[in-house]
Amino acid sequence: MKGILVAGGSGTRLHPLTLAVTKHLLPVYDKPMIYYPLSTLMLAGIREILVVSTPQDRAQYEAVLGDGSQWGLSLSYAVQARPEGVAQALHAGEPFVRGDTVAVALGDNLFYGNGLSSVLQRSARLEEGAVIFAYEVKDPRRYGVVELDREGRALSIEEKPEHPRSSWAVTGLYFYDRDVMRIAGAVAPSARGEREIRDVNEAYLAQGRLSVEKLGRGYTWMDAGTHASLLEAADFVRAIEDRQGLKIACVEEVAWRMGLIDDAQLRRLGEALVASSYGQYLLRIVEGG
Ligand code: G1P
Repeated sequence: MKGILVAGGSGTRLHPLTLAVTKHLLPVYDKPMIYYPLSTLMLAGIREILVVSTPQDRAQYEAVLGDGSQWGLSLSYAVQARPEGVAQALHAGEPFVRGDTVAVALGDNLFYGNGLSSVLQRSARLEEGAVIFAYEVKDPRRYGVVELDREGRALSIEEKPEHPRSSWAVTGLYFYDRDVMRIAGAVAPSARGEREIRDVNEAYLAQGRLSVEKLGRGYTWMDAGTHASLLEAADFVRAIEDRQGLKIACVEEVAWRMGLIDDAQLRRLGEALVASSYGQYLLRIVEGG
């Protein structure tokens, strides 16, 4: 399975923060926002990942993430000429995915919770259909919303509905089989002029091939697309990290714990960042502290 990180969009909801810096590289406490969905894909066991951005932002992502080899990954880059929706960004990954199955993660989504990696790894073994993740929220109007029957099967999916049929938001993480590029390529622009990921999921639903994985109250899901949610996400990460002395979405640590890099490589990564508490953390964990 391949991975696509969707890091396009113009970030207008975060102006003026995003006038010069792309949204997904803004800090969420102690690391760039994109580390969070990147670590989600890594925890799913995915190694080959494409970052899709606007043409002007591509160099910024490459400067931060490189070719991924420092973390045992293979990262590549593609551009979306105009920010016309998540389904379009996904479709831009067709030459990269080359008929494989694919996981898509939105660049501003943070997932956290015990047992998450086994849920992700199970989804990454998908061969047929699609898996989306649902999370209960107080204000579902901000999101895609999935209506579920008693058995937890999807009945409908709506994008940012005025009158939501449930409180289950569709999170920005999707696993698809090999049909997805054909489906994404056929999606027409919505009223807001975007090729919506909702329509891809709706196509799987209409074919009876959509599974919904409910993330219950033991999990945390946040997005960081507005000023308030950006600060909330940072506050959350800081509270957990300061309490436990363990980091969330530390890609170096994830790479090391998953066996993608060895002790010597982690030590080198820590030494390169040693002036920061982040670098000192890497050195501490490699020494077993
Ligand atoms: C996108 C999707 C929406 C989903 C959300 C999750 O919306 O279209 O269905 O609930 O991501 O973050 P956006 O935030 O791009 O408007």
